[in-house]
Amino acid sequence: MTGDEQGGGLDWREGVIPVSRRFDDPYFSIANGLAETRHVFLAGNGLPGRFCDGFQIAELGFGTGLNLLATLVSMPPGLRISYTSFEAFPLTAEEIARALTAFPEAEAVAAPFLAAWAAGRRSFALGGIAVEVIIGDARATLPAWQGRADAWYLDGFSPAKNPELWSDTLLDEVARHTTPGGSFATYTAAGHVRRTLAAAGFAVERQPGFGTKRHMSAGVRA
Ligand SMILES: C[S@@+](CC[C@H](N)C(=O)[O-])C[C@H]1O[C@@H](n2cnc3c(N)ncnc32)[C@H](O)[C@@H]1O
Repeated sequence: MTGDEQGGGLDWREGVIPVSRRFDDPYFSIANGLAETRHVFLAGNGLPGRFCDGFQIAELGFGTGLNLLATLVSMPPGLRISYTSFEAFPLTAEEIARALTAFPEAEAVAAPFLAAWAAGRRSFALGGIAVEVIIGDARATLPAWQGRADAWYLDGFSPAKNPELWSDTLLDEVARHTTPGGSFATYTAAGHVRRTLAAAGFAVERQPGFGTKRHMSAGVRA
């Protein structure tokens, strides 16, 4: 397969960092994507400390699955959780495998995911995680989702380049699909994102960002 599924293809920075041509934005931090994921999405949601059996994570923007793999490597043994991600332009297994070569720790646990993905399966088990990737535009697929998340990873491309994944309507849907006491975290500190999530019912905090990014955002739903 080629990058056609992605709808516009990829460029590769330093050989391993995929950059979407459609959105003109990289899939993860050039500096260290895995460390950024741990800082922003895991710690921002109070993880791994909040993990318990049956915990539900949801994500806007599955991309390379790096956030999924970072979650897997941070889980205590024996834990069972669910991970639902929304993705409009799925990468191929070959593209994902190439991107993961930059992160040996994630690559080391990726084989069952890559095998399932290459076979066209978008629901599969990965260690203790029941994974479901819902393909389609999140503006249509999230409103139809029956689940509610204990923690959200909001990981669209930058709000300037991918505004549809940060619209008021979609962020309202994120809040509607969050358990009471559930949380979100995102790398962006864009004012309109924080204001919309606050209006949707989250107590929103600006927190120190990763690397060169001064701030990120996180919050808990009342
Ligand atoms: C920054 S990347 C996500 C990186 C990913 N979390 C990872 O671990 O590699 C943003 C993702 O959002 C997806 N996306 C953009 N617009 C979307 C939409 N309207 N609905 C669903 N997914 C969308 C892109 O295709 C891309 O995979």
